[in-house]
Amino acid sequence: MPFMEWDASFELGVTEFDEHHKYLVYLLNLTFDGVTFGASHDELGAVIDELIKYTTYHFAAEEQWMTIHKYPGQSEHRKEHEKFCTRVAEIQKDFHQGNMNLGLEVVQFLNNWLSDHILKTDAQYGRFAKNHL
Ligand code: FEO
Repeated sequence: MPFMEWDASFELGVTEFDEHHKYLVYLLNLTFDGVTFGASHDELGAVIDELIKYTTYHFAAEEQWMTIHKYPGQSEHRKEHEKFCTRVAEIQKDFHQGNMNLGLEVVQFLNNWLSDHILKTDAQYGRFAKNHL
């Protein structure tokens, strides 16, 4: 059973971003599996790098979409993205420099942030898309 289960409550109705989010959940579950089953430092590093790379790509795509559609909540949304990017960049740096282990608390932080962000913040542009596009 995966650590984070995808279900209909995460669906925004914007197909491109629903697919992005599913892939992020997949990467989060890979991270959890790596931590739980004792993957090597290099293996865990590769997974966390991909998670961060894809998150950066996804955020940029959402922000471009918000700009194109003149989404009114984009300023606050961007701030949430920036804050998360700052935090995960610290985690990535500390991990690669050997200053921290990738443990369940990090996976839990990523899970909580991603779930909360999709269900609350991303859901707002999902409603905007349904009502205005
Ligand atoms: Fe899907 Fe705002 O991140």
